[in-house]
Amino acid sequence: MTQPEIRHLLQHGQPGQPATVRGWIRTSRGNKNVLFVEVSDGSTIHTLQVVARPDDVAEETRKALTTGASVEATGTLVESMGKGQRLELQATDIRVLGPAAADQYPLQKKGHSLEFLREIAHLRPRTNTFGAVFRLRHAMAFAIHEFFNERGFYNVHTPIITGSDAEGAGAMFRVTTLDAQNPPLTEQGHVDFGQDFFGRSTNLTVSGQLEGELAALALGKIYTFGPTFRAENSNTTRHLAEFWMIEPEMAFYDLADNMDLAEAFLKHLVSKALERCPDDLQFLNDRYDNTLLERLRSVIAEPFQRLTYTEAIDILVQSGQKFEFPVSWGTDLQSEHERYLVEQHFGRPVILTNYPKDIKAFYMRQNDDGKTVAAMDVLFPGIGEIIGGSQREERPERLEQRMHEMSIEAENLWWYLETRRYGTVPHAGFGLGFERLMLFVTGMGNIRDVIPFPRFPGNAEF
Ligand code: 4AD
Ligand code: MG
Repeated sequence: MTQPEIRHLLQHGQPGQPATVRGWIRTSRGNKNVLFVEVSDGSTIHTLQVVARPDDVAEETRKALTTGASVEATGTLVESMGKGQRLELQATDIRVLGPAAADQYPLQKKGHSLEFLREIAHLRPRTNTFGAVFRLRHAMAFAIHEFFNERGFYNVHTPIITGSDAEGAGAMFRVTTLDAQNPPLTEQGHVDFGQDFFGRSTNLTVSGQLEGELAALALGKIYTFGPTFRAENSNTTRHLAEFWMIEPEMAFYDLADNMDLAEAFLKHLVSKALERCPDDLQFLNDRYDNTLLERLRSVIAEPFQRLTYTEAIDILVQSGQKFEFPVSWGTDLQSEHERYLVEQHFGRPVILTNYPKDIKAFYMRQNDDGKTVAAMDVLFPGIGEIIGGSQREERPERLEQRMHEMSIEAENLWWYLETRRYGTVPHAGFGLGFERLMLFVTGMGNIRDVIPFPRFPGNAEF
Protein backbone atom coordinates (compact mmCIF):
# COMPACT_ATOMS: atom_id res chain seq x y z
CA MET A 1 0.00 0.00 0.00
CA THR A 2 1.23 3.51 -0.68
CA GLN A 3 2.00 5.68 2.34
CA PRO A 4 2.37 9.46 2.67
CA GLU A 5 6.01 10.39 2.19
CA ILE A 6 8.09 12.05 4.92
CA ARG A 7 7.63 15.49 3.41
CA HIS A 8 3.89 15.09 3.83
CA LEU A 9 4.11 13.62 7.34
CA LEU A 10 6.34 16.44 8.61
CA GLN A 11 3.99 19.06 7.18
CA HIS A 12 0.58 17.62 7.93
CA GLY A 13 1.07 14.80 10.42
CA GLN A 14 -0.53 15.02 13.89
CA PRO A 15 0.69 13.50 17.16
CA GLY A 16 -1.14 10.25 17.79
CA GLN A 17 -1.56 9.47 14.11
CA PRO A 18 -0.50 5.97 12.99
CA ALA A 19 2.14 6.04 10.24
CA THR A 20 4.53 3.92 8.23
CA VAL A 21 7.73 5.22 6.66
CA ARG A 22 9.94 3.57 4.11
CA GLY A 23 13.33 4.84 3.20
CA TRP A 24 17.07 4.63 3.72
CA ILE A 25 18.91 4.96 7.00
CA ARG A 26 21.11 8.02 7.29
CA THR A 27 22.32 7.36 10.82
CA SER A 28 21.44 4.97 13.55
CA ARG A 29 22.44 4.89 17.21
CA GLY A 30 21.08 3.65 20.50
CA ASN A 31 21.63 1.98 23.82
CA LYS A 32 19.97 -0.65 26.00
CA ASN A 33 16.86 1.47 26.42
CA VAL A 34 16.24 3.20 23.10
CA LEU A 35 17.09 3.13 19.37
CA PHE A 36 17.24 6.23 17.17
CA VAL A 37 17.15 5.73 13.41
CA GLU A 38 17.18 8.70 11.01
CA VAL A 39 15.30 7.79 7.85
CA SER A 40 15.28 9.66 4.55
CA ASP A 41 12.89 8.82 1.73
CA GLY A 42 14.10 11.49 -0.70
CA SER A 43 10.88 13.48 -0.61
CA THR A 44 12.53 16.29 1.35
CA ILE A 45 15.92 17.34 2.69
CA HIS A 46 14.60 16.44 6.18
CA THR A 47 14.81 13.02 7.74
CA LEU A 48 12.27 11.48 10.05
CA GLN A 49 13.58 10.23 13.34
CA VAL A 50 12.32 6.76 14.14
CA VAL A 51 12.46 5.86 17.84
CA ALA A 52 12.04 2.28 19.08
CA ARG A 53 12.51 0.19 22.17
CA PRO A 54 15.26 -2.37 21.62
CA ASP A 55 12.97 -5.05 23.03
CA ASP A 56 10.53 -4.49 20.18
CA VAL A 57 13.20 -5.18 17.55
CA ALA A 58 14.73 -8.60 16.90
CA GLU A 59 18.47 -8.86 17.56
CA GLU A 60 19.19 -9.67 13.91
CA THR A 61 17.24 -6.64 12.67
CA ARG A 62 18.91 -4.38 15.22
CA LYS A 63 22.33 -5.34 13.85
CA ALA A 64 21.22 -4.56 10.31
CA LEU A 65 20.06 -1.02 11.15
CA THR A 66 23.13 0.58 9.57
CA THR A 67 23.68 3.62 7.35
CA GLY A 68 22.42 2.98 3.82
CA ALA A 69 20.10 0.07 4.66
CA SER A 70 16.50 0.36 3.49
CA VAL A 71 13.83 0.02 6.16
CA GLU A 72 10.12 0.10 6.81
CA ALA A 73 8.98 1.35 10.19
CA THR A 74 5.43 1.40 11.53
CA GLY A 75 4.12 3.07 14.64
CA THR A 76 2.65 6.35 15.87
CA LEU A 77 3.68 9.94 15.26
CA VAL A 78 4.62 11.70 18.50
CA GLU A 79 5.86 15.16 19.34
CA SER A 80 9.62 15.24 19.13
CA MET A 81 11.61 15.96 22.28
CA GLY A 82 14.75 16.71 20.29
CA LYS A 83 15.41 19.99 18.55
CA GLY A 84 14.78 20.61 14.87
CA GLN A 85 11.88 18.34 14.15
CA ARG A 86 8.28 18.75 15.24
CA LEU A 87 7.43 15.06 14.98
CA GLU A 88 9.08 11.68 15.20
CA LEU A 89 7.85 8.15 14.73
CA GLN A 90 7.51 5.95 17.81
CA ALA A 91 7.89 2.60 16.08
CA THR A 92 6.46 -0.69 17.20
CA ASP A 93 7.77 -2.54 14.19
CA ILE A 94 10.94 -2.04 12.14
CA ARG A 95 11.88 -4.21 9.21
CA VAL A 96 15.08 -4.10 7.19
CA LEU A 97 14.15 -4.38 3.52
CA GLY A 98 17.70 -4.35 2.15
CA PRO A 99 20.85 -4.32 4.29
CA ALA A 100 23.96 -2.26 3.42
CA ALA A 101 27.10 -3.79 4.89
CA ALA A 102 28.60 -1.23 7.27
CA ASP A 103 32.16 -2.10 6.28
CA GLN A 104 31.41 -1.61 2.57
CA TYR A 105 28.74 1.05 1.97
CA PRO A 106 30.62 4.01 0.46
CA LEU A 107 28.47 6.75 2.01
CA GLN A 108 29.21 5.79 5.58
CA LYS A 109 30.29 9.26 6.69
CA LYS A 110 28.97 12.71 5.91
CA GLY A 111 31.01 15.38 4.13
CA HIS A 112 32.46 13.45 1.17
CA SER A 113 34.05 15.65 -1.49
CA LEU A 114 32.07 16.40 -4.65
CA GLU A 115 34.92 14.85 -6.66
CA PHE A 116 34.58 11.59 -4.78
CA LEU A 117 30.79 11.64 -5.16
CA ARG A 118 31.18 12.07 -8.94
CA GLU A 119 32.91 8.69 -8.98
CA ILE A 120 29.89 7.10 -7.33
CA ALA A 121 27.20 8.81 -9.40
CA HIS A 122 24.99 5.76 -8.87
CA LEU A 123 24.82 6.43 -5.11
CA ARG A 124 25.26 10.19 -4.83
CA PRO A 125 21.51 10.92 -5.13
CA ARG A 126 21.31 9.56 -1.56
CA THR A 127 23.31 12.48 -0.16
CA ASN A 128 21.68 15.67 1.11
CA THR A 129 23.41 17.74 -1.55
CA PHE A 130 22.31 15.71 -4.55
CA GLY A 131 18.86 15.16 -3.15
CA ALA A 132 18.50 18.95 -2.97
CA VAL A 133 19.95 19.47 -6.45
CA PHE A 134 17.71 16.89 -8.11
CA ARG A 135 14.55 18.10 -6.37
CA LEU A 136 15.40 21.61 -7.58
CA ARG A 137 16.04 20.26 -11.07
CA HIS A 138 12.56 18.81 -11.10
CA ALA A 139 11.04 22.04 -9.81
CA MET A 140 12.75 24.01 -12.60
CA ALA A 141 11.69 21.59 -15.36
CA PHE A 142 8.12 21.77 -14.12
CA ALA A 143 8.19 25.58 -13.88
CA ILE A 144 9.51 25.81 -17.45
CA HIS A 145 6.55 23.89 -18.87
CA GLU A 146 4.22 25.90 -16.66
CA PHE A 147 5.67 29.25 -17.79
CA PHE A 148 5.20 28.50 -21.47
CA ASN A 149 1.87 26.79 -21.09
CA GLU A 150 0.47 29.81 -19.27
CA ARG A 151 1.62 32.05 -22.12
CA GLY A 152 0.13 30.06 -24.98
CA PHE A 153 3.28 28.31 -26.18
CA TYR A 154 3.14 24.76 -27.53
CA ASN A 155 5.75 22.18 -26.62
CA VAL A 156 7.33 20.59 -29.69
CA HIS A 157 9.48 17.45 -29.72
CA THR A 158 12.32 17.92 -32.17
CA PRO A 159 14.48 15.04 -33.40
CA ILE A 160 17.58 13.86 -31.60
CA ILE A 161 19.12 12.23 -34.66
CA THR A 162 19.59 14.76 -37.45
CA GLY A 163 21.21 15.15 -40.85
CA SER A 164 21.92 18.86 -40.35
CA ASP A 165 24.19 20.96 -38.18
CA ALA A 166 22.04 23.70 -36.66
CA GLU A 167 24.85 25.81 -35.26
CA GLY A 168 27.21 25.27 -38.18
CA ALA A 169 29.95 24.86 -35.62
CA GLY A 170 31.03 21.26 -36.24
CA ALA A 171 31.71 19.24 -33.07
CA MET A 172 28.95 16.67 -33.47
CA PHE A 173 28.63 13.01 -32.46
CA ARG A 174 28.11 10.74 -35.43
CA VAL A 175 25.25 8.24 -35.41
CA THR A 176 25.90 5.21 -37.55
CA THR A 177 25.28 1.49 -37.84
CA LEU A 178 28.16 0.98 -40.26
CA ASP A 179 30.88 -1.43 -39.23
CA ALA A 180 33.63 0.76 -37.77
CA GLN A 181 36.28 -1.88 -38.63
CA ASN A 182 35.21 -2.35 -42.19
CA PRO A 183 32.92 0.38 -43.54
CA PRO A 184 31.69 0.35 -47.15
CA LEU A 185 33.71 2.72 -49.33
CA THR A 186 32.83 4.87 -52.32
CA GLU A 187 34.84 4.66 -55.54
CA GLN A 188 36.89 7.60 -54.28
CA GLY A 189 37.72 5.63 -51.13
CA HIS A 190 35.56 7.62 -48.68
CA VAL A 191 33.18 5.99 -46.22
CA ASP A 192 29.92 5.49 -48.09
CA PHE A 193 27.27 6.87 -45.76
CA GLY A 194 24.72 6.27 -48.52
CA GLN A 195 24.76 2.69 -47.24
CA ASP A 196 24.24 3.77 -43.64
CA PHE A 197 20.99 3.21 -41.72
CA PHE A 198 19.34 6.45 -42.87
CA GLY A 199 20.92 6.44 -46.32
CA ARG A 200 22.98 9.47 -45.35
CA SER A 201 25.35 10.69 -42.71
CA THR A 202 23.64 11.60 -39.41
CA ASN A 203 24.56 13.05 -36.02
CA LEU A 204 23.14 13.72 -32.60
CA THR A 205 21.53 17.14 -32.61
CA VAL A 206 23.32 20.22 -31.25
CA SER A 207 20.05 22.19 -31.09
CA GLY A 208 16.36 21.79 -31.87
CA GLN A 209 16.12 25.33 -33.17
CA LEU A 210 15.82 24.79 -36.90
CA GLU A 211 12.95 22.35 -36.48
CA GLY A 212 11.54 24.63 -33.77
CA GLU A 213 11.42 27.45 -36.32
CA LEU A 214 9.40 25.27 -38.69
CA ALA A 215 6.86 24.72 -35.94
CA ALA A 216 6.76 28.39 -34.88
CA LEU A 217 5.97 29.34 -38.48
CA ALA A 218 2.80 27.29 -38.13
CA LEU A 219 1.81 27.26 -34.46
CA GLY A 220 2.96 30.77 -33.58
CA LYS A 221 4.76 30.27 -30.28
CA ILE A 222 6.52 27.02 -29.44
CA TYR A 223 9.27 25.71 -27.20
CA THR A 224 11.44 22.64 -27.19
CA PHE A 225 12.97 21.01 -24.11
CA GLY A 226 15.35 18.26 -25.01
CA PRO A 227 18.83 16.81 -24.82
CA THR A 228 21.52 18.27 -27.06
CA PHE A 229 24.99 16.95 -27.77
CA ARG A 230 28.27 18.69 -28.45
CA ALA A 231 31.53 16.89 -29.03
CA GLU A 232 33.77 19.85 -28.19
CA ASN A 233 36.67 18.79 -26.07
CA SER A 234 35.95 21.38 -23.40
CA ASN A 235 36.86 20.22 -19.94
CA THR A 236 35.41 23.21 -18.09
CA THR A 237 33.05 23.62 -15.15
CA ARG A 238 30.41 25.04 -17.56
CA HIS A 239 30.39 22.57 -20.45
CA LEU A 240 28.85 19.15 -20.87
CA ALA A 241 28.90 16.89 -23.92
CA GLU A 242 25.23 16.08 -23.28
CA PHE A 243 23.06 18.84 -21.88
CA TRP A 244 19.42 19.88 -21.92
CA MET A 245 18.25 22.96 -23.69
CA ILE A 246 15.00 24.90 -23.71
CA GLU A 247 14.42 26.68 -27.01
CA PRO A 248 11.38 28.94 -27.41
CA GLU A 249 10.70 30.25 -30.91
CA MET A 250 8.11 32.94 -31.63
CA ALA A 251 6.60 34.15 -34.89
CA PHE A 252 6.21 37.94 -35.11
CA TYR A 253 8.74 38.60 -32.30
CA ASP A 254 11.61 41.00 -32.84
CA LEU A 255 14.83 41.22 -30.81
CA ALA A 256 13.30 43.47 -28.13
CA ASP A 257 10.34 41.08 -27.65
CA ASN A 258 12.84 38.23 -27.44
CA MET A 259 14.83 39.99 -24.70
CA ASP A 260 11.67 40.77 -22.74
CA LEU A 261 10.63 37.13 -22.85
CA ALA A 262 14.08 35.87 -21.83
CA GLU A 263 14.20 38.22 -18.85
CA ALA A 264 10.67 37.37 -17.70
CA PHE A 265 11.45 33.65 -18.13
CA LEU A 266 14.60 33.68 -16.01
CA LYS A 267 12.98 35.78 -13.30
CA HIS A 268 9.99 33.46 -13.21
CA LEU A 269 12.21 30.40 -12.80
CA VAL A 270 14.34 31.89 -10.04
CA SER A 271 11.27 33.04 -8.13
CA LYS A 272 9.66 29.59 -8.44
CA ALA A 273 12.84 28.04 -7.02
CA LEU A 274 12.66 30.37 -4.01
CA GLU A 275 8.94 29.78 -3.58
CA ARG A 276 8.86 26.01 -3.99
CA CYS A 277 12.23 24.77 -2.71
CA PRO A 278 13.00 26.90 0.34
CA ASP A 279 14.42 24.04 2.43
CA ASP A 280 16.71 22.73 -0.29
CA LEU A 281 17.96 26.24 -1.09
CA GLN A 282 18.56 27.00 2.58
CA PHE A 283 20.59 23.81 2.84
CA LEU A 284 22.71 24.66 -0.22
CA ASN A 285 23.12 28.23 0.98
CA ASP A 286 24.37 27.11 4.40
CA ARG A 287 26.51 24.26 3.16
CA TYR A 288 28.26 25.71 0.10
CA ASP A 289 27.67 29.38 -0.56
CA ASN A 290 26.06 31.71 1.94
CA THR A 291 25.41 34.36 -0.71
CA LEU A 292 23.18 32.05 -2.77
CA LEU A 293 19.79 33.20 -1.49
CA GLU A 294 20.82 36.83 -1.68
CA ARG A 295 22.00 36.38 -5.27
CA LEU A 296 18.77 34.68 -6.31
CA ARG A 297 16.68 37.45 -4.79
CA SER A 298 18.73 40.20 -6.40
CA VAL A 299 18.30 38.74 -9.89
CA ILE A 300 14.53 39.01 -9.54
CA ALA A 301 14.59 42.49 -8.07
CA GLU A 302 16.42 44.47 -10.74
CA PRO A 303 16.00 44.93 -14.49
CA PHE A 304 18.74 43.28 -16.55
CA GLN A 305 21.24 45.69 -18.06
CA ARG A 306 20.88 45.82 -21.86
CA LEU A 307 23.68 47.04 -24.11
CA THR A 308 25.28 46.29 -27.44
CA TYR A 309 28.35 44.18 -28.00
CA THR A 310 30.11 47.32 -29.28
CA GLU A 311 29.35 49.21 -26.06
CA ALA A 312 30.55 46.23 -24.04
CA ILE A 313 33.84 46.10 -25.92
CA ASP A 314 34.38 49.79 -25.13
CA ILE A 315 33.80 49.13 -21.44
CA LEU A 316 36.16 46.15 -21.44
CA VAL A 317 38.89 48.00 -23.34
CA GLN A 318 38.64 51.00 -21.03
CA SER A 319 38.45 48.90 -17.87
CA GLY A 320 42.20 48.71 -17.47
CA GLN A 321 41.67 45.06 -16.45
CA LYS A 322 44.31 42.51 -17.39
CA PHE A 323 42.43 39.71 -19.16
CA GLU A 324 43.95 36.39 -20.10
CA PHE A 325 42.38 36.79 -23.57
CA PRO A 326 42.75 40.32 -24.98
CA VAL A 327 39.58 42.02 -26.25
CA SER A 328 38.95 44.10 -29.34
CA TRP A 329 35.98 44.61 -31.64
CA GLY A 330 35.35 41.39 -33.54
CA THR A 331 36.63 38.92 -30.94
CA ASP A 332 34.31 36.49 -29.21
CA LEU A 333 33.84 37.26 -25.52
CA GLN A 334 35.41 34.81 -23.10
CA SER A 335 33.77 33.98 -19.82
CA GLU A 336 36.27 36.24 -17.97
CA HIS A 337 34.97 39.20 -20.03
CA GLU A 338 31.34 38.26 -19.53
CA ARG A 339 31.85 37.91 -15.82
CA TYR A 340 33.70 41.22 -15.59
CA LEU A 341 30.71 43.00 -17.14
CA VAL A 342 28.18 41.23 -14.92
CA GLU A 343 30.03 40.96 -11.62
CA GLN A 344 32.34 43.98 -11.59
CA HIS A 345 30.93 46.59 -13.90
CA PHE A 346 27.14 46.37 -13.70
CA GLY A 347 26.56 44.11 -10.70
CA ARG A 348 23.51 42.51 -12.28
CA PRO A 349 22.56 40.29 -15.24
CA VAL A 350 23.40 41.71 -18.64
CA ILE A 351 21.88 41.21 -22.09
CA LEU A 352 24.37 41.89 -24.88
CA THR A 353 23.00 42.48 -28.39
CA ASN A 354 24.13 42.98 -31.97
CA TYR A 355 27.29 40.91 -32.12
CA PRO A 356 29.64 40.89 -35.12
CA LYS A 357 28.17 38.55 -37.72
CA ASP A 358 31.41 36.64 -38.13
CA ILE A 359 31.28 35.16 -34.62
CA LYS A 360 27.60 34.14 -34.80
CA ALA A 361 25.51 31.52 -36.59
CA PHE A 362 24.23 31.84 -40.15
CA TYR A 363 20.55 32.13 -39.21
CA MET A 364 20.81 35.38 -37.26
CA ARG A 365 19.16 38.45 -38.80
CA GLN A 366 21.62 40.78 -40.49
CA ASN A 367 21.60 44.38 -39.32
CA ASP A 368 21.69 47.34 -41.73
CA ASP A 369 25.27 48.21 -40.75
CA GLY A 370 26.46 45.16 -42.70
CA LYS A 371 28.69 44.15 -39.79
CA THR A 372 26.45 42.93 -37.00
CA VAL A 373 23.53 40.56 -36.48
CA ALA A 374 20.47 40.78 -34.20
CA ALA A 375 21.92 38.39 -31.63
CA MET A 376 21.42 38.45 -27.88
CA ASP A 377 23.29 36.68 -25.10
CA VAL A 378 22.10 36.81 -21.50
CA LEU A 379 25.01 36.84 -19.05
CA PHE A 380 24.62 35.84 -15.41
CA PRO A 381 26.74 36.29 -12.30
CA GLY A 382 29.03 33.35 -11.65
CA ILE A 383 28.00 31.72 -14.93
CA GLY A 384 28.65 33.95 -17.94
CA GLU A 385 26.40 33.04 -20.89
CA ILE A 386 23.18 31.37 -19.73
CA ILE A 387 21.05 32.14 -22.81
CA GLY A 388 21.97 32.62 -26.46
CA GLY A 389 19.44 33.72 -29.06
CA SER A 390 18.57 36.07 -31.89
CA GLN A 391 16.02 37.44 -34.26
CA ARG A 392 16.16 35.14 -37.28
CA GLU A 393 16.97 36.06 -40.87
CA GLU A 394 13.54 35.82 -42.47
CA ARG A 395 14.54 37.28 -45.88
CA PRO A 396 15.28 34.38 -48.26
CA GLU A 397 17.94 36.15 -50.35
CA ARG A 398 19.84 37.44 -47.32
CA LEU A 399 19.72 34.01 -45.69
CA GLU A 400 20.99 32.19 -48.76
CA GLN A 401 23.73 34.72 -49.31
CA ARG A 402 24.90 34.32 -45.69
CA MET A 403 24.87 30.53 -45.96
CA HIS A 404 26.94 30.80 -49.10
CA GLU A 405 29.46 33.11 -47.40
CA MET A 406 29.76 30.67 -44.53
CA SER A 407 30.03 27.60 -46.81
CA ILE A 408 26.86 26.03 -45.50
CA GLU A 409 25.32 23.75 -48.08
CA ALA A 410 21.89 25.03 -49.05
CA GLU A 411 20.89 21.59 -50.44
CA ASN A 412 21.07 20.16 -46.94
CA LEU A 413 18.76 22.83 -45.54
CA TRP A 414 16.31 23.13 -48.45
CA TRP A 415 13.41 22.57 -46.06
CA TYR A 416 14.57 25.40 -43.80
CA LEU A 417 14.87 27.74 -46.79
CA GLU A 418 11.36 26.87 -47.98
CA THR A 419 9.88 28.45 -44.85
CA ARG A 420 11.39 31.73 -46.09
CA ARG A 421 9.89 31.27 -49.52
CA TYR A 422 6.41 30.37 -48.33
CA GLY A 423 4.86 32.87 -45.97
CA THR A 424 7.98 34.04 -44.20
CA VAL A 425 7.53 36.30 -41.14
CA PRO A 426 9.85 38.05 -38.71
CA HIS A 427 10.55 35.71 -35.82
CA ALA A 428 12.95 35.22 -32.95
CA GLY A 429 13.96 32.73 -30.29
CA PHE A 430 16.63 31.69 -27.83
CA GLY A 431 18.17 28.73 -26.06
CA LEU A 432 18.54 28.37 -22.30
CA GLY A 433 21.13 25.83 -21.18
CA PHE A 434 19.23 23.94 -18.49
CA GLU A 435 22.34 22.95 -16.55
CA ARG A 436 23.66 26.53 -16.65
CA LEU A 437 20.36 27.55 -15.06
CA MET A 438 20.79 24.77 -12.50
CA LEU A 439 24.31 26.01 -11.70
CA PHE A 440 22.90 29.43 -10.98
CA VAL A 441 19.93 28.26 -8.95
CA THR A 442 21.82 25.74 -6.81
CA GLY A 443 25.04 27.72 -6.44
CA MET A 444 27.02 24.59 -7.29
CA GLY A 445 30.42 25.31 -8.82
CA ASN A 446 30.64 22.51 -11.39
CA ILE A 447 28.12 21.67 -14.11
CA ARG A 448 28.89 17.97 -13.58
CA ASP A 449 27.12 18.23 -10.24
CA VAL A 450 23.74 19.47 -11.49
CA ILE A 451 22.90 16.61 -13.89
CA PRO A 452 22.44 13.06 -12.61
CA PHE A 453 24.88 11.38 -15.00
CA PRO A 454 27.25 13.90 -16.57
CA ARG A 455 28.80 13.26 -19.97
CA PHE A 456 32.19 14.87 -20.53
CA PRO A 457 35.40 13.87 -22.31
CA GLY A 458 36.52 10.50 -20.98
CA ASN A 459 33.39 9.90 -18.91
CA ALA A 460 30.31 7.87 -19.71
CA GLU A 461 30.49 5.25 -16.95
CA PHE A 462 27.03 5.42 -15.47
O1 4AD B 1 24.40 29.70 -27.61
P1 4AD B 1 23.99 28.34 -28.07
O2 4AD B 1 24.99 27.51 -28.81
O3 4AD B 1 22.69 28.60 -28.95
C1 4AD B 1 21.98 27.67 -29.64
O4 4AD B 1 22.20 26.48 -29.65
C2 4AD B 1 20.78 28.25 -30.35
N1 4AD B 1 20.29 27.26 -31.30
C3 4AD B 1 19.74 28.64 -29.34
C4 4AD B 1 18.53 29.27 -29.98
O5 4AD B 1 18.60 30.43 -30.39
N2 4AD B 1 17.44 28.55 -30.08
O6 4AD B 1 23.48 27.50 -26.83
C5 4AD B 1 22.42 27.98 -26.03
C6 4AD B 1 22.75 27.82 -24.56
C7 4AD B 1 23.98 28.59 -24.11
O7 4AD B 1 23.65 29.92 -23.82
C8 4AD B 1 24.38 27.81 -22.87
O8 4AD B 1 23.55 28.18 -21.77
C9 4AD B 1 24.01 26.39 -23.25
O9 4AD B 1 23.07 26.45 -24.28
N3 4AD B 1 25.17 25.60 -23.69
C10 4AD B 1 25.76 24.63 -22.97
N4 4AD B 1 25.49 24.15 -21.74
C11 4AD B 1 26.26 23.15 -21.28
N5 4AD B 1 27.27 22.57 -21.99
C12 4AD B 1 27.57 23.02 -23.23
N6 4AD B 1 28.55 22.43 -23.92
C13 4AD B 1 26.80 24.10 -23.77
N7 4AD B 1 26.81 24.76 -24.94
C14 4AD B 1 25.81 25.66 -24.87
MG1 MG C 1 26.02 30.95 -27.52
